[in-house]
Amino acid sequence: MLDPHLQRVVILGTGTGVGKTHVAAALASALQARLGAGQVLALKPVETGAPYRDAARLQTHNAFPVKPHPRYALPEPISPHLAADRAGQRIELGEIVAWVETLEAQFALCDNTLLHICACSVIETAGGALSPLADGVRNVELALAFEPACWVLVAPDALGVLHELGATITALGAIARAPDAVILSAAATPDASTGTNADELRRLGVADPLVCLGRNDMDVSALADWVSARRS
Ligand SMILES: Nc1ncnc2c1ncn2[C@@H]1O[C@H](COP(=O)(O)OP(=O)(O)O)[C@@H](O)[C@H]1O
Ligand SMILES: [Mg+2]
Repeated sequence: MLDPHLQRVVILGTGTGVGKTHVAAALASALQARLGAGQVLALKPVETGAPYRDAARLQTHNAFPVKPHPRYALPEPISPHLAADRAGQRIELGEIVAWVETLEAQFALCDNTLLHICACSVIETAGGALSPLADGVRNVELALAFEPACWVLVAPDALGVLHELGATITALGAIARAPDAVILSAAATPDASTGTNADELRRLGVADPLVCLGRNDMDVSALADWVSARRS
């Protein structure tokens, strides 16, 4: 059973370690608060580097056990295409889409009350938007496979982000389309640019971040409101 207003949110990043999992987990929580527990799926289709902490963290938001999670669990902490190769696997976009669709279609009844019907899936990609999943297949192609979807691009509030966001948004536009929302998340190590980047990105016309998260800040309400509004 599928919700006709089901929204998919694809979390893309300017790289690895930029805050994608932090934003995905915060968004899953915020959407659950709006839509109801059990109506949001938080998924990590491809993860490299055992143990699979991103999938485990996102799984805490799911109303039922997602197995397998990640769909592609690749032990070596390297690029997905290489990690898959070394694990004797090949990442297939069709398999990922089928995995997500099957999970979205799962629902549970208790005393004739619908406990779970997926209203929104939050899907975290592995690495950067242009990281390869297989020959000729990158995260941007995975995002395209989920269309129509909300593309959220996460970047660190740190030195280098003016270039990294500019480069990623330009590349996404050339290959596919612009992201729907840009989020800055606190850098692992703050620097002299932290706190200034959102305004500079706007002034330079690179991006207009919807949310700028400080250290340990999980308030993505503006993003959750925007995603919820797209459901109607
Ligand atoms: N707003 C934030 N506040 C505190 N720590 C953050 C924030 N954003 C990211 N981090 C931390 O930075 C590191 C990388 O973030 P993560 O979400 O795992 O990145 P990615 O999923 O892009 O690899 C993690 O240790 C994470 O907890
Ligand atoms: Mg992550």
